[in-house]
Amino acid sequence: MGSLPKTPPVRAQSRGGTLPKRDEAPPWQPMRRNRLKKRNYLIALIAILALVVAACGGDGEGSDTTDGATDTTTAPDTTEGATDTTEAMTSTTTGGDDELIVGVSWNNYNEERWALWDEPAIVAALDEAGATYINSDAGSSAEQQLTDVENLIAQGADALIILAQDGTAILPAVQSALGQGIPVIAYDRLIEDPGALYITFDNVGVGALQAEVIYDLVPEGNYAIIKGNAADANADFLRAGYEQVIGEAVTAGDITVVFEEYTDNWDPALAQTNMEQALTQANNDVQAVLSENDGMAGGVVAALAQQGLDGQIPVSGQDGDQAALNRVALGTQSVSVWKDARELGTAAGQAAVALAQGTALGDVEGVVQFDSPENNSMTSILLTPIAITQDNLDVVVDAGWIDVGTLCQGVEAGSVAVCE
Ligand code: GAL
Repeated sequence: MGSLPKTPPVRAQSRGGTLPKRDEAPPWQPMRRNRLKKRNYLIALIAILALVVAACGGDGEGSDTTDGATDTTTAPDTTEGATDTTEAMTSTTTGGDDELIVGVSWNNYNEERWALWDEPAIVAALDEAGATYINSDAGSSAEQQLTDVENLIAQGADALIILAQDGTAILPAVQSALGQGIPVIAYDRLIEDPGALYITFDNVGVGALQAEVIYDLVPEGNYAIIKGNAADANADFLRAGYEQVIGEAVTAGDITVVFEEYTDNWDPALAQTNMEQALTQANNDVQAVLSENDGMAGGVVAALAQQGLDGQIPVSGQDGDQAALNRVALGTQSVSVWKDARELGTAAGQAAVALAQGTALGDVEGVVQFDSPENNSMTSILLTPIAITQDNLDVVVDAGWIDVGTLCQGVEAGSVAVCE
């Protein structure tokens, strides 16, 4: 296993930037739009049906969040996941009208961050405010999430935080909530409704930070691009960030994108399959991989390892997954763009309480206006990501995000400062 060339010192942390507007769609946009349009018609139809059923109270399954108050310290076991939507983490027993209830609809708990960092931070912020937390898990189903949101409303949610499975399909439920005067927070992923508060990281910046580290290592050669879920706006924001960094080199012919594909549900196993296809198609002649998150980067590195290429081809990622940071220390992954999800959860919990208590969208602390791809001016809270390479692993250790033991597992003595 050859070792990756030393990563250059990390540049300025965030470049910012917005996605191209609808009418100046880059080459990879049109196909996606037609496919999405057909699918959206179908989902909208199902959405209306689901709403009718929910209104007639006949759903019988999905998220019933009232029973089973559990202690608030343990985050749900992510492996449980998909269909178990009954868990409620409440800091107080459900009670009278003056009780403030915040409902959180998770599309799934597949990535470790959601249960390990995001959810506990939201719960702690609600606890701080004496509010009640109820939640649901849609198991990666856009249809289930529609029902979940209606159920959280039926359970008395005074504000909603939604991590959308599909930013378009969720619109009917968001409009229903806003129509009932229930504030909605679009958590981490854009939902194109200006009535919602959008709280996320600078996702174009995340993409640019990834690409900067990889481009510094591989200014010329063949690139494979492993994108996330097509129904998640972040997949295109990250791609736009890549374009900011490698676009010119691609136009100049220094870099060739030999493979580019979306990956359903950001699934690591599907990402591995994508990378295997990329290597087969390119006859292993790939010099760099831009993988949009750490979960998928794990699949990419597994595919490279099958060809004895792991540690030789720079790979990017995001989220600061424990395993990914270990890969950065080992040298099989070059960068993980870290987003302190504790900050995101805290900001969302506090904003949900403020909105439920009547604060106007524009008066929420720290908001800015964000121009969305569909020309909505979204009231937003945008947090700053940090690129983590072998040179600044101390940042995540000092932040209490990972302990040295986990980070440095299997790391050669003397190869990484923070592991000494
Ligand atoms: C994105 C999120 C990432 C990532 C992914 C998969 O929307 O920004 O952090 O992990 O979803 O859940």
